[in-house]
Amino acid sequence: MLIAQVTDIHLGFQPDDPAELNRRRFDDVMASLLALEPRPDVLLATGDLAESGSIASYRSLKTVFDALPFPVLPAIGNHDVRRNFTSVFGRERMDGGYVQYVAEAGPLRIIVLDTVEEGLHGGAFDNGRAAWLAAALAASSKPTIVVLHHPPIETGNGWMTERSDAPWVRRLHDVVAGHRHVIRLLSGHLHRAIVTNWAGTTLAVCPSTAPQVAIDFRALDADDPDGRDMVIAEAPGFALHYWTGTDLVTHFGSGGEHPVLARYNARMQPTVRHILAERG
Ligand SMILES: [Fe+2]
Ligand SMILES: [Fe+2]
Repeated sequence: MLIAQVTDIHLGFQPDDPAELNRRRFDDVMASLLALEPRPDVLLATGDLAESGSIASYRSLKTVFDALPFPVLPAIGNHDVRRNFTSVFGRERMDGGYVQYVAEAGPLRIIVLDTVEEGLHGGAFDNGRAAWLAAALAASSKPTIVVLHHPPIETGNGWMTERSDAPWVRRLHDVVAGHRHVIRLLSGHLHRAIVTNWAGTTLAVCPSTAPQVAIDFRALDADDPDGRDMVIAEAPGFALHYWTGTDLVTHFGSGGEHPVLARYNARMQPTVRHILAERG
């Protein structure tokens, strides 16, 4: 089973330009995912789908999603507008006023959370949402993936991090910890590929299709705009999570053209033959 993931599309960053940079970067990633064989079984779209949460941006994305040969599970991010998001992607994904729902994906269960609080850049997870997650986790012991836009982690990376003692982080930690069937947390928001252990499981952050956040571990001073790099245009990214039957293996890739330095031809054949023979 293959679970593809895109995140932080930020469609509509240049609202008057239908061929905007973020659109082209997203299209490049989707072309890469559609070229995969076998194809993904499902696509996670983990928030910040639209820069300003406009219905026009969501409709444009929905046109793409509806044409895919696999279903899409959308999550909400801090740039999204809940009301517009659900009016396009479906109110059946709302529960208790939040975009939170459970989806079955073959042998896996996927729980999509809503970590948005209007006006906040960072995450939120109140007692109501914690109770909802606790009930969802208790309902099945199937291997479960928890999807949430905001990763509850301290990254060390400048302006894109979270306090590990933030109340919402502690609240989420307390619900997830102890559930051995949570095999992975999958996030976006940080615009970088990041992997860590967290609450007794593994958390992976998918790189954005929109431009990335620069790595810079120096302290930030709100009174000193020192000219450091903040947003950079590395290749647009995606993640591909491969379920082996017992483990979830996460790959990170990027869309667009890449130079090909070796192909499987007669020159590479001895190497391939050797590797396959060794594996038995
Ligand atoms: Fe984002
Ligand atoms: Fe975000």
